[in-house]
Amino acid sequence: MARAPKSIETRTMEERERLFRDLRGLDRRSFFRVSLAALGAAAAKGVDFHPFSFQPVSVAHAARGKVEPFRFAYISDSHLYERKLNDRFVNQLMRAVDDVNRMDPAPDFVLYGGDLAQLGQPKELELGAEILKNLKQPVRMMVGEHDWFLDMGDKWRDLFGEETYSFDHKGIHFVVLHSVQEKDFWTARGMTPMERMQTVAGLDNGIQSRFEVGAPQREWLKKDLAKLANDHPLIVFSHSPLYKYYRNWNFWTDDAEEVQAILRRFASVVVIHGHTHQVLTNRIGNIHFHGMLSTAWPWPYAPEGLPKVTVQMGRPDPFDPHDGCGDGFAEVHPDGLVDKVYNLWNRNPVRVAGTYVASGGKKNAPPAPKLTSF
Ligand SMILES: [Fe+2]
Ligand SMILES: [Fe+2]
Repeated sequence: MARAPKSIETRTMEERERLFRDLRGLDRRSFFRVSLAALGAAAAKGVDFHPFSFQPVSVAHAARGKVEPFRFAYISDSHLYERKLNDRFVNQLMRAVDDVNRMDPAPDFVLYGGDLAQLGQPKELELGAEILKNLKQPVRMMVGEHDWFLDMGDKWRDLFGEETYSFDHKGIHFVVLHSVQEKDFWTARGMTPMERMQTVAGLDNGIQSRFEVGAPQREWLKKDLAKLANDHPLIVFSHSPLYKYYRNWNFWTDDAEEVQAILRRFASVVVIHGHTHQVLTNRIGNIHFHGMLSTAWPWPYAPEGLPKVTVQMGRPDPFDPHDGCGDGFAEVHPDGLVDKVYNLWNRNPVRVAGTYVASGGKKNAPPAPKLTSF
């Protein structure tokens, strides 16, 4: 008698068991399996599949003839739970790691954009570190609020080092900020560390304070930039957007104006941020802001305050766990304008030209997304 086919639940649980078994070794085959499944899903949708889940950024800044073109990649907002609680987010981070490892030419380094963990727990951060170790290139880490508020950064620092730092690479000055600091809302309320973490993770609870860079770090930033001429190319990595988008969800940096004032003397500044999990573009004076996609889930757009130069991505299909997630790349031109391409997993990429941003949306508007908006 023919054996009854396995139910979808049985098959899903078997696949899940296999993933967690493989995770113990994290061998090449595990990554390959994830990437094969991703290719199949893209092909099924008839998408011109971009092979890299990362957001490679080609930098070709000719200011003062000092910058040598190069690219770097990034992965952001993976929100890992402890092993065995959630296999989907693990799979999606592995997909990104596998994609960037197959980039040709390889990036010079990889930026991780924050929110590696979901609740800042040691096992979540360790799992993330274990998966990221499979990247072939050096990784520059940035902290997100989900990584921080359980132990105020103790475990994150143990694994990854200082959270605020700068470095120079081929003529570009890079700054990495911890922009998700909050004023103490927990002591007076007698909250436990986990209650504090869960409150911050809630975003729209109305209890926590707004994110900020904070006065000490702003002083550090001023000092760090003091040595640079006004035409020195500058790229800032920040988890929160460094502007005020939507206060109720903490898509917001409370001291954004003060930080922007520090950056104002430069001819052009690029800020690349995580946290908002969506295609998001803004320009305030000399500063161009570019949101990163999440590998875990897309956030909807806020009901008000969306920057007017943002070209909205299609509303993701709720039955496709990869839809609305993914990556992209940016090209920084000699005049400081940035062309940016979002590689949405299983959808066609969206290019946002620097001239479009500079003209306030009047020139070179990106084409509307072709696939269905759900
Ligand atoms: Fe996030
Ligand atoms: Fe975040």
